[in-house]
This record gives sequence, structure tokens and C-alpha cells, in this order.
Amino acid sequence: MSLERRVEELRRRQAAALAGGGPERRQRQHDQNKLTARERVELLLDEGSFEEFDQLVTHRCDEFGMDQQRIPGDGFVTGSGRIDGRPVFVFAQDFTVFGGSLSETNAEKICKVMDLAMSVGAPVIGLNDSGGARIQEGVASLAGYTKIFLRNTLASGVVPQISAILGPCAGGAVYSPAITDFIFMVDRSSYMFVTGPDVIRTVTHEEVSKEDLGGATTHNQASGVAHFLAPDDAGCLRMVRELLSYLPSNNLDDPPRRRTSDPVDRLAPQLNSLVPPESNQPYDMRQAITAVADDGVFFEVQELFAPNLVIGFARLNGESVGIVANQPAYLAGVLDINASVKGARFVRFCDCFNIPLITFEDVPGFLPGTQQEWGGIIRHGAKLLYAFAEATVPKITVITRKAYGGAYCVMASKFLRTDINYVWPTAELAVMGPEGAVNIVFRREIEQAEDPDAFRREKLDEFRDRVANPFTALERGYVDAIIQPEETRKRLIKALGLLRGKRASNPAKKHGNIPL
Ligand code: HXC
Repeated sequence: MSLERRVEELRRRQAAALAGGGPERRQRQHDQNKLTARERVELLLDEGSFEEFDQLVTHRCDEFGMDQQRIPGDGFVTGSGRIDGRPVFVFAQDFTVFGGSLSETNAEKICKVMDLAMSVGAPVIGLNDSGGARIQEGVASLAGYTKIFLRNTLASGVVPQISAILGPCAGGAVYSPAITDFIFMVDRSSYMFVTGPDVIRTVTHEEVSKEDLGGATTHNQASGVAHFLAPDDAGCLRMVRELLSYLPSNNLDDPPRRRTSDPVDRLAPQLNSLVPPESNQPYDMRQAITAVADDGVFFEVQELFAPNLVIGFARLNGESVGIVANQPAYLAGVLDINASVKGARFVRFCDCFNIPLITFEDVPGFLPGTQQEWGGIIRHGAKLLYAFAEATVPKITVITRKAYGGAYCVMASKFLRTDINYVWPTAELAVMGPEGAVNIVFRREIEQAEDPDAFRREKLDEFRDRVANPFTALERGYVDAIIQPEETRKRLIKALGLLRGKRASNPAKKHGNIPL
């Protein structure tokens, strides 16, 4: 073949790769308010930075007429690029080619970028829009998925792995994202399920819509599978870029610092009156977070799931921090199964990637009840305890009000190797709330008293004065200092500076056995 013919052939194949499944299927994507794989990659990455690999790879299947349908690229766009100037690796499934289903060869394409990402220490971003295992390829596709799952697992804790779900993802297409660190979903155009509504109807006779079964709201609110809910593809890709701005490229790097004009000694006087005078009154802990964060910016994770615990990223004097905070505005900030699991995974993520942890605490305890006990609150609550205990990144806790019982121990208390523990003057550290405590300790006396109500009230006041305050903990050194709420930002930034050189490690072992 002459050089000219070769160039011509190359152009023909490249054009076929760019055309994907053809104009009709591309139009169908757009009609469904979805972008194509290539449009997504372009929007995600810094302009002009995308370098594509394996553009001309084709599948190897000859069954079911597949030998007549070979599209260069085979429905996956893979390669590298930059986000805010830092290298990342990316793969995007093209739904217009066999529904973005995974063939043996495009599993190899994904594995190639994952292997490269691991060897250079760069994040992997998957843009998922796939019908799962390519049915025509059978077990070869399943083997391909398994190779990806293995790599997801080995990369976990080494490079950040981010999944954007941008279409109907079924079967194997959901298990790889499930192992990654963060899952984004798009409202009303993305779905995740192991088996779809048709299979469910056949097996369990349940009728359920795609949206209810595995839509973005379901997974952000009910199942906790997803971490972010985006309005559309473009918004989703912008959020992925924003998330990455808080993360290091790998576990040996520090997160990027971002310059800020927000003064390090800025006071937040509004915090002095944030905690209401009555200890059973709610308030929004997010106000404490945004008041201390650089420029008031808080990038919340899993906002809709277990809102009694707030988690997310912020910056303090330009440094990335992970925030874990009880939310008194929802269920009084109690710890339940979902909140424990949500917090544990986030704490472990921050610990993997050298992101200091700031805990804001106002917690009345673990949620009582048969639903929680039978659901395994003991096992799930222990996850959060385990996660805080094993974390070796700088850890700072601010107790704003309640620190009761087991939940006090769990929420980054001093004895879980928390470096600096602050209390606000409104803090109450006790085994339980005054009401519960008085009813148990003085049960007999209350029954025998001439005026039981008056006796109870007297004991309640005594308990509040003597126990439900920060002084015993301060006397014993269980907390390090009492700070005025308005100076929290200043103190946190100082403490972070102090802890910058922190070196801590856990005993050598293959790995721990977190209660799963
Ligand atoms: C091959 C597939 C495919 C698949 C879709 N297509 N899924 N081709 N293998 N898995 C093709 C269709 O034939 C069609 O081709 C095109 O993609 C678009 O599909 P539609 O059904 O027209 O699209 P839509 O109505 O939007 O429905 C999307 C869908 C549905 C919900 C994803 O296609 C679907 O249910 N697919 C099967 C899902 C599934 O059960 N996958 C296997 C899971 S098992 P044309 O030529 O008409 O455009 C699995 C095992 C791994 O993944 C387990 C690991 C633990």
C-alpha cells in the first residue's frame, strides 16, 4: 500500500471512529438531553489537552453478525488529558455504539489507561453510559469487567477514582463505579441498577420505574450509592473538575493549595450566637462550616443522604480539608446506620489522600430503636469509630454543643488520636442528656419524693450545672482548649499549620479488618 493510500485509509478509519454509532444515534443522545462521549471528554478536560489512545481498536467478536459491524474505537473513548493543568486519565463509553456495552477489547482499553494512571500517579475518571457486558461476547466481556474490577481495587487509595454516571448503567457497568471513590449522577438521565425493571418484574413481580429503581434521586437520597446529583451532563463535568481541585493526584502527593484573599485571622462573630440557649433547639451546622471556610465555600458530599451528618471539602488558608459534622437541624444530629457508613467512608478517603480532617461535633448519641439495632447499628457505628481511630492525617475536633455517650467517643475524641480538640463555651460532654441521666440515676428517689416533678427539676438543674458542661473535660485534659466561636477559623488555621509536619503510622499489618 502506498503512503498516500495508507494516509487515506487512516483518515477513513479515524472518521469512522469519530462518527461512532452514526448521526441518528447521536441525535437520540442529544434528544435525551445527553452529550456524546467525545463531547463529554472535551468539556471535562482543559481545552485542547486530550490525547486519545486506541482510537482504532475494534472488537474481536464474529458471533451474531458482529463481524459485519466493527466500528473503530468500539464505543469507548480513552486517553489522557489535564484538569487545572494536572494530568488525569479518562475513559468514556459511547452509548451510540452497541449501547456503550463492554467488549473484551474495550476492557483492554480501560485497563491500559488505569495501568498508566497507576504508574504515573494520576486520577482516573470514568464517564459511564453503558448497557453493561456486551451480550454477544458472553464470558469474554465478563472477564474484561473482572480485570477492571481488580484494577479498581488495587488503585483504591493510590489514585483518586471518580465515576460520572451519564446514562443507563446496568450490570457490570455499576460495579466498577461502586469501587471508585465518588459517583456523580445526572438528574433524570442516569440510572444504576444491577438488574433492570424488566428482570425485576419477571423474578419478583414488582413493578418499578427506571427512575424509582435507580435514578439519580434514588441513589443520592435513599441508597447512598451516589455522592453528587448534577442537573445535566455539562454541570456534572464541572462538578467533577471542582471535586478534583480539592484532591491530590495520588496518595504520595499533598492536595493542591489554592491562594485566597480571605484573611487567616478573620473573625466570624455570627458564630457566637449560632448555638441556641435551649439545648434541644436545632441550628444549621453548615453555618459554622461556611463561616470558617475560605470565602465561605463548602463543597458538600452526599448532601441528600443521611443529612444528620454533613461531610464535604473546604479550604482553610488555601489548604484542602475534609469536614465531618453532626447536623443538629436534622434528627438532632444523631448518629444512625446511614450517617455512620457515610462518615466512615469519607474519613477513610481523606486519610488515604492526606487531607486533614476537621470534625464539628454536636451529637446526642446513637439513634435508639429496633430498626437500628436489627439493622446492625453496632456493626455500622463501629465503622465510623474504626475509621476515625485508624486515620493518621491531622485531626482537629470542635465540640460546639453536645458530645454525649458512645457518639462522643466515636466523633474524633481525644483518645482516637485526635491531635487538637477544641470546645466552645456551649459544649456539654456527658454520658447522656440530662433528662435520660436523671431518670436513670434518681429513679427511686423520684418515685419516693413528695413532689416528684419538683425533685426531678432540681436534679436536672444540678446535672446541667455539674456534668453537662465542658469543665470536667477541660480539667482532665480530654479537650485541649476552650475557644470563642468567633475565633474558630483563626484557631483552626493555626492548628493546621502546627500539624503540617505530622507523622503518624499504624502497626505493620497486611490490612485491618474494618467491620463491614
Ligand atoms: C450489547 C447492547 C447492550 C448490551 C444495549 N445494547 N445493551 N448491546 N450488549 N449489554 C444495544 C441495543 O441492542 C441497542 O442497539 C443500543 O444498545 C441501545 O439500546 P436500547 O435498548 O435501544 O436503549 P435504551 O432503550 O435506552 O435502554 C438502555 C438499557 C437497555 C436500559 C441499557 O439497552 C438494556 O437493558 N440493556 C441490557 C442491560 C443488561 O442487562 N446488560 C447485561 C448486564 S450483565 P441498536 O443497534 O438498536 O442501537 C453484566 C454482567 C457483569 O453486565 C456482571 C459483573 C459483576
